[in-house]
Amino acid sequence: MARIRVLAAASEVYPLVKTGGLADVAGALPKALAAEDVAVTTLVPGYPAVMQALPNAETALSLDDLFGGSARVLRGNAAALDVFVLDAPHLFARAGNPYMGPDGRDWNDNAFRFAAFAQVAARIAGGAMRGYQPDLVHAHDWQAGLVPAYLHYAGGSVPPSVITAHNLAFQGLFPREVLPALGLPPDAYSVDGVEYYGNVGYLKAGLQFADRITTVSPTYAQEITTPQDGMGLDGLLRRRASVLSGILNGIDVDVWNPATDTYIASNYDAEHLAARAANTAALQQRLGLDADPNALCIGVISRLTEQKGLDLLIDVLGHVLSTGAQLAMLGAGDGALERTFSGAAKANPGRIGVVIGYDEPLAHQIQAGASALLVPSRFEPCGLTQLCALRYGAVPVVARVGGLADTVIHANEMALAAGVATGIQFAPPAAEPLEHALAHTAELFRDRTAWSRMQANGMRADVSWRRPAHRYANLYRELAV
Ligand code: ADP
Ligand code: GLC
Repeated sequence: MARIRVLAAASEVYPLVKTGGLADVAGALPKALAAEDVAVTTLVPGYPAVMQALPNAETALSLDDLFGGSARVLRGNAAALDVFVLDAPHLFARAGNPYMGPDGRDWNDNAFRFAAFAQVAARIAGGAMRGYQPDLVHAHDWQAGLVPAYLHYAGGSVPPSVITAHNLAFQGLFPREVLPALGLPPDAYSVDGVEYYGNVGYLKAGLQFADRITTVSPTYAQEITTPQDGMGLDGLLRRRASVLSGILNGIDVDVWNPATDTYIASNYDAEHLAARAANTAALQQRLGLDADPNALCIGVISRLTEQKGLDLLIDVLGHVLSTGAQLAMLGAGDGALERTFSGAAKANPGRIGVVIGYDEPLAHQIQAGASALLVPSRFEPCGLTQLCALRYGAVPVVARVGGLADTVIHANEMALAAGVATGIQFAPPAAEPLEHALAHTAELFRDRTAWSRMQANGMRADVSWRRPAHRYANLYRELAV
């Protein structure tokens, strides 16, 4: 089998820059693909954190004028990843997160920042960089959505492209007035082009022009072809159903390994679950929870947005407390949710512990110490925290949607009798089913034998990138012939 060279374009790559699961995927998939003889180089914007991680990168391409300023593409290696960094200070040398300033508002030139990013990826794919020619391009999410469009309109002999939609809720919509500056032909503004309900849609453009579309779980791949979950793109996705597939995410099992994790108080594995108790004690102490080894400690690690359904947890908080459970929560996002959960923690000392913010070590400590991990999402393309939870023996309690439906084996009577259950699912994502699921969880937790069995099942499940990487490699090979 010949080696395949893939140019990936991702606006976040763990550990260089991360706001969510996209970064985890972009950071871990290339390493797993190496075992499939696929060599991935990832183009990432030169945000300050990325520039700092590559102090010795060399210039591989110079661009005199990229959307109003000069730019360079640097080539280097960081955290075992081959990367191209788009060093364009006028677009990316800014404090704050990749998409918004410190005031929490989107940068007003995001249309141009990510058009520039996509255009550079397309130029590299088209042969602009001496000594580097990829066999195909893999674009991730709306930030790279214009890559297939630029390739399409460039015409001639360009490599094929794949786009992965990690979340249809983020579409990269901009007013049609941006179009003339994008360097696309005027007729690109049409239903068969980049137009989307009167706007320019970057994700839509990618879904329209990529040779293959993937999303991050089989169930989400099916859900997004329906009006209910397609967020306006279902018609297009139904039309392109023959090139759409769902490939489940994995997690980086070296970063997430309870046997070697340096963030946690006590290392353990499926054969030594007793050693996990020290992590529960440490977590309870850290979050001001009562030191109680027998309490059901429910963990949450999440962006606080409508998608994640945590407002449903607020509705049933009284019930949770009445069962004697504890809540250990880490999250950031919506201000109203942040205030409500912080207030609940103040009102229930010892029972509810909340940290508002982004805290990588604490995320590991919750996975290692909580009894269960709750993910009550209204929709979830894949979800990674439930995969980490499986690996860490925190029993996932999840809404039966998207990738959550595909990754957790529900503890119904048959699954329990067969000894294969790994967690609890509920449907639909609403307060009442959630309350029942939490009551069921508390009941299962009291049966320590059944509970330990579920923990061990989860810990033995293969949540690595091995199988998904093989699928991506097959897809690439089909395309690259
Ligand atoms: P999404 O990408 O929709 O936010 P995922 O479950 O795919 O959801 O990925 C979320 C990733 O971000 C996981 O690696 C999770 O551990 C991490 N994460 C989410 N919120 C926080 C937080 N407040 N602090 C630290 N890590 C977080
Ligand atoms: C998105 C989705 C999440 C998925 C992640 C990585 O952020 O919300 O479900 O796991 O992308 O693919």
